[in-house]
Formats: sequence, C-alpha cells, structure tokens
Amino acid sequence: MATLGRAAVCFTFRNMFLLCICLSFSFLPFTLSAQRNDRPIIGVLAQEVFQPKPNQTSYIAASYVKFLEAAGARVVPVMIDQTPEEYKSLFNSINGILYPGGGVSIISSGYERAAKIFYELAIEANKRGDYFPVWGTCLGFEQLTYLTSGKVTLSHTNTSGVALPLNFTNETKDSRMFKGFPAELMKDLASEPLTENSHQWSLATLTYNTSEELQKFYKVLSTNTDGQTEFVSTVEAYDYPIYGTQWHPEKNAFEWTKPYIPHSPSAVKTTFYMAEFFVNEARKNFHRFESEEGESKALIYNYSPVYTGHNSSFQQIYFF
Ligand SMILES: *[C@@H]1O[C@H](CO)[C@@H](O)[C@H](O)[C@H]1NC(C)=O
Ligand SMILES: *[C@@H]1O[C@H](CO)[C@@H](O)[C@H](O)[C@H]1NC(C)=O
Ligand SMILES: *[C@@H]1O[C@H](CO)[C@@H](O)[C@H](O)[C@H]1NC(C)=O
Ligand SMILES: *[C@@H]1O[C@H](CO)[C@@H](O)[C@H](O)[C@H]1NC(C)=O
Ligand SMILES: *[C@@H]1O[C@H](CO)[C@@H](O)[C@H](O)[C@H]1NC(C)=O
Ligand SMILES: *[C@@H]1O[C@H](CO)[C@@H](O)[C@H](O)[C@H]1NC(C)=O
Repeated sequence: MATLGRAAVCFTFRNMFLLCICLSFSFLPFTLSAQRNDRPIIGVLAQEVFQPKPNQTSYIAASYVKFLEAAGARVVPVMIDQTPEEYKSLFNSINGILYPGGGVSIISSGYERAAKIFYELAIEANKRGDYFPVWGTCLGFEQLTYLTSGKVTLSHTNTSGVALPLNFTNETKDSRMFKGFPAELMKDLASEPLTENSHQWSLATLTYNTSEELQKFYKVLSTNTDGQTEFVSTVEAYDYPIYGTQWHPEKNAFEWTKPYIPHSPSAVKTTFYMAEFFVNEARKNFHRFESEEGESKALIYNYSPVYTGHNSSFQQIYFF
C-alpha cells in the first residue's frame, strides 16, 4: 500500500500521530478509510389512507420501496402518529428518508407532522457534518417547499396525468443529482416525455423567483409548463443533501395502471439513475440501529404488499 510505504520512509511525529488516530478509529464499526456505508437503510414515509378500514389506516405505495431496493438500499416504513422520541430514535438508525407522492395535506396531516420532524432533524444533523439525505417526490416535493418557506406557495396546474421532457436549467451541469447521468440519457430526458406528472399543484417558477427563502435554499435543475404556467420540476438544495422532483421517477419501472406512464428503455433507465443517485447519498451516512434485532423488526420485510392494480393507481400497496 502506497501510503503505508511512504509513512515507513519518512516517519515524522506528525505521521505517528495520524497513524495512532487511524488505529484507534479502526475499532469503530466503520473505518475512516471506508467513508461509505454499503448497507444503507432508507425510511419511506407512510400517509393516511383516504377511506381508512380496520388495519388499513396508512399506506406506502410499493413502487417507492422497489425504487430504493433496486439501487441497493433496504427500506424501513416510517409510520405516522409516532412520538417525537420514536422519530428521533428512528432518525438515528436510518441513513436517509423519502417523502412519497400522495394526497394528504402538507399543512396538517400525520405525513406532514413526521416530515417536519425528520426535516428539522436532517437540517440539524447536516449542520453538524452528519450527512443525512432527504428526498421528496411529488407531494413530498410540495411538502419540502412548505417546510423550507413556511408558506403554501403552490399554484394550480393542468398536470394530472402527463409525461413531459425536462426543461433543464443552466444549473444542471453543476448539479450533484445529474452529474453521474450518461450524456445520452440527459439528451433523452430533455427531448422525450420521460417524466410522469400526476399533480394538480405546482411551484410556479414566478413564485420561486419571488420567494427569497426558496431561492436561497434550492437550486432549480429543471422546469416544465402546462402551457399556461411554468413550474419548477426538479430541485436540489444548495447546502444540504435535500432533493425534490415534482415528477415520479419510481413509476417508469414499477407502475403499470396508467397509459401515460412511460416504459421505454430511457424511461426505465431514468428510474434507476435517480435511485442510484439517492441511495449513494444515503451511503454517506453512518447511522445504525442499536441492535440487529431492532433493525430486522423495523424493516419493510415484516409487511406484505397487497395487489391493488385492479382498483387503484398503484400496482401494489403496503397497508399499515
Ligand atoms: C387486524 O390485525 C390484527 C393483528 O394482525 C388481527 O388480529 C385482526 O384480525 C385484524 N383485523 C381485521 C379486521 O382484519
Ligand atoms: C390539460 O392538459 C391536457 C393535455 O395534457 C389537455 O388535453 C387539456 O385540454 C388541458 N385542459 C385544460 C383545461 O387546459
Ligand atoms: C424552458 O425554460 C426557458 C426558461 O424559463 C423558457 O424560456 C423556455 O421557453 C422553456 N422551454 C420549454 C420547451 O418549455
Ligand atoms: C444559460 O446559458 C446560455 C449559454 O451559456 C445563455 O445563453 C443563457 O442566457 C443562460 N440562461 C440563463 C437563464 O442564465
Ligand atoms: C425566473 O428567473 C429566471 C432567472 O432569473 C429567469 O430566467 C426566468 O425567466 C424567470 N421566470 C419567470 C416565470 O419569472
Ligand atoms: C380494492 O380491492 C380490494 C380487494 O379486492 C378491496 O379490499 C378494496 O376495498 C378495493 N378498494 C376500492 C377503493 O375499491
């Protein structure tokens, strides 16, 4: 090993000191030299079922779980209506969190309450150098705009059920999110309708342009328009590993109930490149469960998804 060889040749006191630090850290579960967690566990936030039934009061669409699993993460469901202490303990056990799309309130719901607690914990942690990524898809993106600005800043758009190409901004080429994407896929994303939109509310570019909080916090990576209103479709935070897409990267590979979901090779590649990006972000976090038992009890494998493709827009759903 080159570094060890060099240390042996010029063995100053400084090198000796560094060597001691390395040796002492090597007894920790993750060595400093690793700098990567190859067993990432990501929380996916549940939300209220619109018409609850006994044992079916909250849910997670299975496509979000598959999305993360496909890129090498394991998933823990983050249940609604838990205590702040329970959320804090879960936060310290997982390596990132995803806020899925859906239909609940971003101002007052169990989903919003949990999202806010994790958002605040993530901001605090990242400030301390504890890298904790947060991802919002569709409703999750809208939730992030509310948590960041403290205001509802959304406008009505005609975008419930349409696939669109992304209109990339000049910021995209310096973005963390798209840096690892192949040039060919970027070209396809910009020219073909590969991103599925299922939302009635959007962050208008004009609103973003006039919101100091949002402008300071998020870099806009793409926009779209419904023909009337231009809206922000992809963001990443400048100073935090916080990401949002108004569109649905998980659907292309895993949802089949709607004719407007794209399934072309480039569309499916989009699913996997987005997932790979976020899971790699979670690999930079070293939180872990206190025990193996606690970890296995928390994992989504303890639940079975239900086939719902015949009467819902999701192929499979986890109910809680
Ligand atoms: C709800 O779940 C519990 C525990 O799994 C089970 O015993 C009970 O029968 C379920 N109730 C209904 C209505 O399915
Ligand atoms: C909404 O958009 C669709 C295309 O996605 C279009 O067919 C429809 O006419 C639009 N509706 C309105 C009210 O603009
Ligand atoms: C892309 O965004 C730019 C800047 O806002 C705008 O001028 C252009 O018309 C948009 N293109 C499309 C196809 O929406
Ligand atoms: C983006 O970059 C192009 C080429 O460098 C430039 O012509 C254009 O004005 C830039 N647009 C914005 C909004 O900065
Ligand atoms: C928002 O600001 C950007 C950058 O200054 C500009 O290119 C864009 O046209 C603005 N969009 C709207 C809708 O005001
Ligand atoms: C969908 O089908 C399942 C199983 O057949 C049933 O339990 C559920 O109530 C149905 N949901 C709706 C919204 O019809």
